[in-house]
Amino acid sequence: SDSLRDLAAAIGLRVGSAIIPQDLNTPAWAAVAASQFSVVTPGNEMKWQVVEPTQGNFDWSGADNLMAFAKANNQLVRGHTLCWHNQLPDWLTTGVSNGTISSSQLRGLLQQHIYTEVGRYRGRIWQWDVCNEFITDANPQINPNNFWIANAGPGIIADAFRWARQADPHALLFYNDYNIGGEDGTNAKADAAYALAQQLLDQHVPIDGIGIQGHLDTQYGWSPQRLQEDIERYASLGLKVAITEADVRTFVNNATDQVPTDSLSQFAQPFEFSEMLKAGLAVPEFISFTVWGFTDADSWVPGFFTGEGYATIYDVNLNPKPAYYALQSDL
Ligand code: XIL
Repeated sequence: SDSLRDLAAAIGLRVGSAIIPQDLNTPAWAAVAASQFSVVTPGNEMKWQVVEPTQGNFDWSGADNLMAFAKANNQLVRGHTLCWHNQLPDWLTTGVSNGTISSSQLRGLLQQHIYTEVGRYRGRIWQWDVCNEFITDANPQINPNNFWIANAGPGIIADAFRWARQADPHALLFYNDYNIGGEDGTNAKADAAYALAQQLLDQHVPIDGIGIQGHLDTQYGWSPQRLQEDIERYASLGLKVAITEADVRTFVNNATDQVPTDSLSQFAQPFEFSEMLKAGLAVPEFISFTVWGFTDADSWVPGFFTGEGYATIYDVNLNPKPAYYALQSDL
């Protein structure tokens, strides 16, 4: 077969997508999710806000459904994400802001969260995004105002990795962020990610990989050569590397039709998907390439970037786009 997953399998790579409940509930979409991908990531279903909406009351239904889907379709799972400043439950953020949750209590709550969630899926998660988006965009550094850093202290990143390792010694533990591979200009955010990884390794913190999200646009502010060099330097630390959330958004005429405003985008998009994948393929430590949703009908982009869309590899009617064929021919 010439599915993405079969072509990738032949070269020892996993190709994946973020999956949301609608994908599993829509038979034609579920068929694509099953046939094209060999690794899946829950788009939201493993985030703290979803799994523990009120303190002590858990809802694992979405996460369990995805785990069952993955098992039925012989797919691996990227767990996403344990320690992030977004999509936290209200009870947690409110408790911190009104002072009823102290710094040491917050630390204990994260430890418990990681033990509970990682423990629940112990042995069944290939890669965990342990820490997500801790580095600032301007003057890149660990963000001192990040919810976790500001409220639980700078040691929280190392602790999160240690707790995750304790809860599942077999999962590969990742630091995940955007704009940490191949960016034009100083590429200082990738430098900061590299420095973080190096520092964690120096401290014998159990980190196994770097996830480069890969949320791009067709303004093309990055270089494929530089992306490959960034992947190589993470790998040179002894780490695995994954592209974890690839999409290439563009300005669209109409949020429903998802047609780019400029025809150049229709060429830039498949080119950027292809160059991202090829940068990874050049490096042996590159283990998976994941898109953040596979159809323009279920992408997060129109909801988050005003006037933008057309970001995925299938159109709104589930027809493969040029970007799909570009990936297929690279594999
Ligand atoms: C996004 C989801 O796709 C949306 O459905 C949700 O409303 C917000 O989060 N970086 C990440 C992902 O690490 O978790 C985000 O996912 C996209 C940006």
